Amino acid sequence: MLCLKRSGKPSSMVASSLCFLWALLGLYAMAPVLMASTPAAMCTPLKTLNDSLSHRRRYMKHNFPINYSIRVYREEIFKLSTISRMRLKVEGLDELVLQRLWFQVNQGVLKKIIRVLPERHPSRSYSAELERRFRDAEGVFVQSHPAEMFQQELPEKIQDIWDQLTEEPDRVLESSWRFASPKSLVDSLCRTMFCLFSDCFVHPGAQQDYCGVSHLGRGNKTSIQKAEKRPAE
Ligand SMILES: *[C@@H]1O[C@H](CO)[C@@H](O)[C@H](O)[C@H]1NC(C)=O
Ligand SMILES: *[C@@H]1O[C@H](CO)[C@@H](O)[C@H](O)[C@H]1NC(C)=O
Ligand SMILES: *[C@@H]1O[C@H](CO)[C@@H](O)[C@H](O)[C@H]1NC(C)=O
Repeated sequence: MLCLKRSGKPSSMVASSLCFLWALLGLYAMAPVLMASTPAAMCTPLKTLNDSLSHRRRYMKHNFPINYSIRVYREEIFKLSTISRMRLKVEGLDELVLQRLWFQVNQGVLKKIIRVLPERHPSRSYSAELERRFRDAEGVFVQSHPAEMFQQELPEKIQDIWDQLTEEPDRVLESSWRFASPKSLVDSLCRTMFCLFSDCFVHPGAQQDYCGVSHLGRGNKTSIQKAEKRPAE
């Protein structure tokens, strides 16, 4: 805005080249921020996915027997606390790596949920729709990053998790299986999506910390105190 106003005056050449310089500097300063955030194109498919997810109570809970659970890999229990633990443990962990992991984990989760549903189960088509929308988001995710990014070496701890996730079921140790209800798995999918792609779920006026474990009412005293302090900082 300032730049536009100045350019009408006699010293406009100087002013506009200065302007250009500032713009360049500004771009430089913004570059890391821009790269760290979610590409805008991701938001449409993720919001569509979120719309489907808003019906999850009915389709992932009420249509199942009470306390029904399915068998998943330990690494497929992927919650907000998992993300914060990884951020603590892995130095310089890139958001993009976590986003890739999120897709890898939840692809497996959705597949496992669908696999237990008979053809005519009332949640079958809902689950298929979730998976379709999830895949749409994944497609845009892959398209909106250069291919080299997906060939980059992962941090060792993340690579280990990745290897477990892609292991053949018959090679997974008995002790590495976990039981979880479809609802809890899809809840985690949803919450971790808000956390890892928070740029797409910004609501003006509402300060939301989607990655904070405490706003779910499960945080301990320390983490609640921390969360309360954060807005004042
Ligand atoms: C997800 O979708 C539901 C229903 O469309 C909406 O009410 C909710 O605000 C959305 N969540 C976020 C974080 O935008
Ligand atoms: C479901 O699980 C809860 C908590 O583990 C338990 O108290 C309850 O009895 C279970 N209900 C059924 C029907 O198995
Ligand atoms: C409570 O939360 C803090 C911060 O998230 C964590 O460092 C600590 O280990 C937690 N304590 C317990 C008992 O869970």
